[in-house]
Amino acid sequence: MTADLSPAMLDQWYPVLISSELRDEPVSAMLLGQQIVLFRTSKGVHAFKDLCIHRGVPLSLGRIEGDELVCAYHGWRYDGCGACVRIPSLPPERAIPDKAKAIAYSCIEEHGIVWASIGRPETEKPNFFSHMNADHKVVRMGPYELEAAGPRIVENFLDVSHLMFVHEGLLGDSRYSEIQDYRVNEAEGVLRTDEIVVFQPDADGRGKSMNSHYVYEVYGPFTAALVKRNPDNGELFHLFLAVLPITETKSRAFMLKARSYDLEAPDEAFVSFQDTLIEQDRVMVENQNPDLLPLDLQAELHLVCDRMSIAYRQRLKAWGVTFGTA
Ligand code: FES
Ligand code: CO
Repeated sequence: MTADLSPAMLDQWYPVLISSELRDEPVSAMLLGQQIVLFRTSKGVHAFKDLCIHRGVPLSLGRIEGDELVCAYHGWRYDGCGACVRIPSLPPERAIPDKAKAIAYSCIEEHGIVWASIGRPETEKPNFFSHMNADHKVVRMGPYELEAAGPRIVENFLDVSHLMFVHEGLLGDSRYSEIQDYRVNEAEGVLRTDEIVVFQPDADGRGKSMNSHYVYEVYGPFTAALVKRNPDNGELFHLFLAVLPITETKSRAFMLKARSYDLEAPDEAFVSFQDTLIEQDRVMVENQNPDLLPLDLQAELHLVCDRMSIAYRQRLKAWGVTFGTA
């Protein structure tokens, strides 16, 4: 099945688990329809294909002992790099076969999230971290389990004209629903809109109305961000979205919100505000038809306010993203 996955999909970092979900037991997960196992040793986090080469049992049924992943079926032991270091049934004078290996993938832990890639990621960390301001306070939100295609979720995140309807009273007001025209620019592989002004009755959960200035950004097939700026005082927040495409129609959405203000304030209010917004979005993205995002631009009807969605669809097509698209 990986044969169908283009490098643009394979070589991404994907958020899989939050750190607290990975303790002293291996955990199975699915990424682009592939079953993987994640586990933690004293050296850090690791991800393998969830399959023991001996008899095809999922390694996630096993256990961790002394920094080794032990298969539940016949006790073969794998180190953190995937090498089989002991086969209990083999007499000691017999060498461990060279082929006795697990398929190891790239895996890191960053901002309280365990990230994995089943391809060859070009950067040591997800590339959007380089857009995060080190002075900002970063809060993790989610993960949100959604019965929706990853690209539908990303596109909903980039959709400015739903704010006044799906999030009316919070992120928009249907009396002020007209969207000014804007352009989508590209620099260093990032798609970015001009600033778009949106009147927001409650811009960030603190009950304050303002004319927020929005910039949307796309970094990869399943990663996007928005920057919201308060023009009166320059306060900024940067909301990063990274989606784990589990199957074509099932996803896990992770968010990191980096804010330049109220650095000492408790994070709970920001998180619960986002939880509310996601439940509103859920009704849309879980019910869109077709489930998969159509890349043929004739398939749905676009307006000028949808320029970012159009650019995102075109980019998915250029990247050869077939997972979650039609
Ligand atoms: Fe894993 Fe035999 S199937 S050790
Ligand atoms: Co929304």
